[in-house]
Amino acid sequence: MKRKQEPFACLACYDATTARWLQRGGVHLLLAGDSAAQVILGYDRTIDMPIDFAIEITAAIKRGAPRTMIMADMPFMSYHASTESALINAARFMTQGMADVIKLELDASFAPLVQTMTRAGIPVCAHIGCKPQTSSLTGGPIAAGRTASQLEQIVHDATTLEQAGAVIILIEAVPEEVTKAVMEAVSVPVIGIGAGIACDGQILVVNDLLGLTDFPPRFAKAVDSIGDRIQAAGRQWVQNVHERTIGAQAYTMRAGEKEKLSEGSMKSTSPSR
Ligand code: KIV
Repeated sequence: MKRKQEPFACLACYDATTARWLQRGGVHLLLAGDSAAQVILGYDRTIDMPIDFAIEITAAIKRGAPRTMIMADMPFMSYHASTESALINAARFMTQGMADVIKLELDASFAPLVQTMTRAGIPVCAHIGCKPQTSSLTGGPIAAGRTASQLEQIVHDATTLEQAGAVIILIEAVPEEVTKAVMEAVSVPVIGIGAGIACDGQILVVNDLLGLTDFPPRFAKAVDSIGDRIQAAGRQWVQNVHERTIGAQAYTMRAGEKEKLSEGSMKSTSPSR
């Protein structure tokens, strides 16, 4: 698609059912994002993402959308302690998680790791620009590349990581000058989030797209307001239960069985679905 200059659509999502519908919608790439720590598990930060959960949701998304490219997001500290543990963890995402490509938040200093992973057959997406996993160092997940020297640093990160083998660059929350400079400097596809329209592909958290997020990032443009609809459905359910308009007799006893009932045999049992 990059060769044909056709923009491609990516979304971060977290479960098989949503992935199934997004595949039917023609979304080109699904990311099992570590943003699940926030939108699924309710933490404030992505660094709380548990690795086993990350692998599970990657596999769930692949099962839900088997014909879509699935990107796994390696969580905080799963690729920093040593090259050996990074490779072992990446292999879990590729095998247990059935990922097609894995994403790591990187700068140029990680080039040797990208080289080692590439040599082992692991396709790497280099996430550059704003990197939420290291935002404790910057006082929060703030935009990156807002000075000329930061722009140069990000372009250096992109080119060094591409040379090391990265097959995709993902760039987050940077001014469009940075995106353009990165696009000119690399030949692999560039996915943007809050990085302007120049990118080859765009990515968003599906909850932001659906209108499920109370305080979405400034670049997130919702196309629906599912949150309001869930709220309305919840309210309707409460009302139906209150008015006893649901729970009507769904099952009946087999012919002749009622007659066999003696007093005391009316103990409640849970019916199967
Ligand atoms: O985890 C995530 O959702 C991401 C974004 C870039 C979409 O990494």
